[in-house]
Amino acid sequence: MSNACSYRQLFLSLCLLFCLTFPCCVKSDELQILLTLKSALNKSSTDVLDSWEAAGSVCSFNGITCNGDGSVKEIELSNLKLTGVLPLDSICQLQSVDKLSFGYNLLYGAITDDLNNCSKLQYLDLGNNLFSGSFPEISSLSELRYLYLNGSGISGPFPWKSLETMTNLTVLSLGDNPLDRTPFPNEILKLKQLSWLYLANCSIEGEIPPAIGDLTELIDLELQMNYLSGELPSEIGNLHKLWQLELYSNGLTGKLPVGMRNLTSLEYFDASDNNFEGDISEVGYLTNLVSLQLFENQFRGQIPPELGEFKKLVNVSLYTNMFTGPLPQKLGSWADFNYIDVSENLLSGPIPPDMCKKGTMTKLLMLQNRFTGEIPTTYANCASLKRFRVSNNSLSGIVPAGIWGLPQVDIIDIAYNQFEGPITSDIKNAKEIGILSTQYNRLSGELPEEISEATSLVTIELNNNQISGEIPRGIGELKSLSSLQLQNNRLSGSIPESLGSCASISNVNMANNSLSGRIPSSLGSLPTLNTLDLSRNELSGRIPESLSSLKLNLFDLSYNRLTGPVPQSFSVEAYNSSLAGNPGLCSSTIQYFKKCPPDSGMSKSVRTLIVCFAVVALLLSSLGCFLYLRRTEKDGDRSLKEESWDVKSFHVLTFTEDEILDSIKQENLIGKGGSGNVYKVMLANGVELAVKHIWNTDSHGRRKSRSSTPMLGRRTGKEKEFDAEVQTLSSIRHVNVVKLYCSITSEDSSLLVYEYLRNGSLWDRLHMSQKMELDWDTRYEIAVGAAKGLEYLHHGCERPVIHRDVKSSNILLDEFLKPRIADFGLAKMVQANGGKDSTHVIAGTHGYIAPEYGYTYKVNEKSDVYSFGVVLMELVSGKRPIEPEFGDNKDIVSWICSKIQNKESVLSIVDPRIPVAFKEDAVKVLKIAILCTTKLPALRPTMRTVVQMLQEAEPCKLVGIVINKDGEVKKKETMESAEKLNP
Ligand SMILES: *[C@@H]1O[C@H](CO)[C@@H](O)[C@H](O)[C@H]1NC(C)=O
Ligand SMILES: *[C@@H]1O[C@H](CO)[C@@H](O)[C@H](O)[C@H]1NC(C)=O
Repeated sequence: MSNACSYRQLFLSLCLLFCLTFPCCVKSDELQILLTLKSALNKSSTDVLDSWEAAGSVCSFNGITCNGDGSVKEIELSNLKLTGVLPLDSICQLQSVDKLSFGYNLLYGAITDDLNNCSKLQYLDLGNNLFSGSFPEISSLSELRYLYLNGSGISGPFPWKSLETMTNLTVLSLGDNPLDRTPFPNEILKLKQLSWLYLANCSIEGEIPPAIGDLTELIDLELQMNYLSGELPSEIGNLHKLWQLELYSNGLTGKLPVGMRNLTSLEYFDASDNNFEGDISEVGYLTNLVSLQLFENQFRGQIPPELGEFKKLVNVSLYTNMFTGPLPQKLGSWADFNYIDVSENLLSGPIPPDMCKKGTMTKLLMLQNRFTGEIPTTYANCASLKRFRVSNNSLSGIVPAGIWGLPQVDIIDIAYNQFEGPITSDIKNAKEIGILSTQYNRLSGELPEEISEATSLVTIELNNNQISGEIPRGIGELKSLSSLQLQNNRLSGSIPESLGSCASISNVNMANNSLSGRIPSSLGSLPTLNTLDLSRNELSGRIPESLSSLKLNLFDLSYNRLTGPVPQSFSVEAYNSSLAGNPGLCSSTIQYFKKCPPDSGMSKSVRTLIVCFAVVALLLSSLGCFLYLRRTEKDGDRSLKEESWDVKSFHVLTFTEDEILDSIKQENLIGKGGSGNVYKVMLANGVELAVKHIWNTDSHGRRKSRSSTPMLGRRTGKEKEFDAEVQTLSSIRHVNVVKLYCSITSEDSSLLVYEYLRNGSLWDRLHMSQKMELDWDTRYEIAVGAAKGLEYLHHGCERPVIHRDVKSSNILLDEFLKPRIADFGLAKMVQANGGKDSTHVIAGTHGYIAPEYGYTYKVNEKSDVYSFGVVLMELVSGKRPIEPEFGDNKDIVSWICSKIQNKESVLSIVDPRIPVAFKEDAVKVLKIAILCTTKLPALRPTMRTVVQMLQEAEPCKLVGIVINKDGEVKKKETMESAEKLNP
């Protein structure tokens, strides 16, 4: 290759020499330059350059525009997936080129100062590439009009001084580059022709200079995501042509200046996520606004009534401020209004009735205010509505029936109001609804049977209402249902047997109703059930033996009319309170209950009859079972071996796919999860592996039938989950992240082959096993290791990976109890420029889910930080995320929150199994846990900071001293200053 290269260079320089003597050969010289460019770009992606051939004329090449004399004027090669190093040394030998456009490619390497030879350049676009290093001085490009370097990959200092000579610059776009921190570059203020200035996310700090008002040609000014502070200068009002002003995610303070009102051309204004305060009366003059984003500030006062007359306004987001007074009643009634989010303010008065007048509204978010009155009936016909959330207000009246059946709605949240009336059968039309949240109202009437037709439902929260009648028999149709909260109502009748078909359900609470009859034994077959509270009802009969197989965080059957013996697995003192208030229960081992009579009092003949009958039944059923097992085993065998398998390996393999396939059988089964079975495989060479087997299912959860046609492009939920896991894990290598050896897939099922971790999960160690207790040192090392694994996922990969289901059962322990993060089924690569609404999927495990999941769905790395904080709390307290002792609807976070008032009760949080000498150390980790579980995601530390803080909380060793990364010994910082380090 180097030979070819130097040959080409020799050829080129010979040609150049030639040209100096014979100017007529300019064109063949330019041909050579373009061929050099072509050969520098990766062949596999350059079909578009096929027309670039030695025999051709440069002016006929794709992407080339020529001057009248046949010399190259423009090169336009943007957005072509080109990869390679740009040979600027040769390109800038093109004497008359005035436009170079290479944006949105995959070009890499340095941008060299050869650029200065392109002295006629008016248009330069190198943005959205993978360049590296700092950008060169380009003072000789004084004729530039357009300079796009946004997202190009350049870093370090930027040569701001070079800009001074470019007096004709109209577009300057430098944002989204990791440049060195700099005050606002004054050189820019001299560029009077600027109409577009994009300096977002490029490390600008300090104040916005008042002279910004001199750039009166500006149409677009984007300064978001920097470190700007101080007040917005009133000179901003001089920018009469300004159409878009983006200031979000900075540290700006003070009021919106008087003078803003002169920005009469402004259509898009975003000042959210700053520290602005005072009223927003200036906004009342901006009559052309299309989008107004002021959320997460400290604004107060009234919403300007003029907003109700703005004819173009379609998006309004003012949440988390301190606004008071009513909303203008004509708000949103003029244009194709899209959404309003005014949650978390102190607003009052009625809901404006006409925001869906044009039938285009998607979100109505007015949570946590003081709104009064009824839901306007107009919204019952708003078919475009996806979110309807008005919880935590003082709204009342009957919910219009149509609201329940909005065809596109995915959240209805009217909780904590004074609503009355029934949930109507309209709900059968709500095919997209995932969350139905109506708790703490005065809803009455019966639950319609049609609720079972709303098959997307994931969460049903109807608790604390006055709902009566029976639980719909068809509830088992809700295959996605995860949480069913019916407590504190007036429900009667029995618990439907079909509940056992809700295969995704993790939380069931029916406490404090008038339910009677038996507990369906089908509940024992729910693999993911996490909490089960049926207390304070009139349930009778025996506790089904099947419940023994559940692994529950919360289990409460107290105060019913249950009778008979307590099943063996619940015959542990710890369950006494869960079973209290059932005088009919008996136990032969636990004193708390009365002794089971050795003789149940039946006549001898009846007993004999029953025994005989039972023996026969047992024989018959075991015969059936035997036959069934044989058949399924055969089935299983055949199905696995008959398939054609596709192996994707990510590490060097020491086993064959057959070895794996042979081991997928009942006796190797070690776990069942929501996403599939897990088998332990022992290879001939002694190596142990864990294999996750996922059947590809159709949308009804049935196994795909063999004869069905292969699916074309449509992936089912489980397949998607599988793809996600493979995609994520295959690109990840870290000592604290579980290793995926390979994936083996066929049309019908998929196998993931992992390393096997002998010590199970942290959950098992902490909560299930009495055998092996974890001392504080070990717990601390687990905390640090797991934190590093997550830090790697968030910050160490090409793109951040959000785990989305961090919990102690997903932290596995190797033979030395070193932790590894597992189960990425739900992980999702964060799109580098992902939309604000990153996901619709409701995921995670009760007790670990960050509050923002339920509310805005803006899930990011900080949601993992929250869940990790819960894991730290488990490590410190030894408690599970949800325990009966925390009380109704309380989890470990709120429990700890209620205990940190004084030092004694703080120490009482620490697991009694941790010796006194280590309690102070444990409290240090507890403080980090509390930071991680801060309600506002922005206030939580990043995982990188968490690792640092944990390292500083190292138990007792070298007290007062810490060794930093460079090996320097530094004074150990106090916890307080570490806290202050957080954003
Ligand atoms: C700026 O543009 C004007 C008009 O096109 C031109 O005459 C002038 O030379 C340009 N200035 C620079 C520094 O290129
Ligand atoms: C708005 O502009 C007008 C004229 O363009 C000017 O007289 C006035 O002072 C400006 N208002 C503010 C508050 O800057």
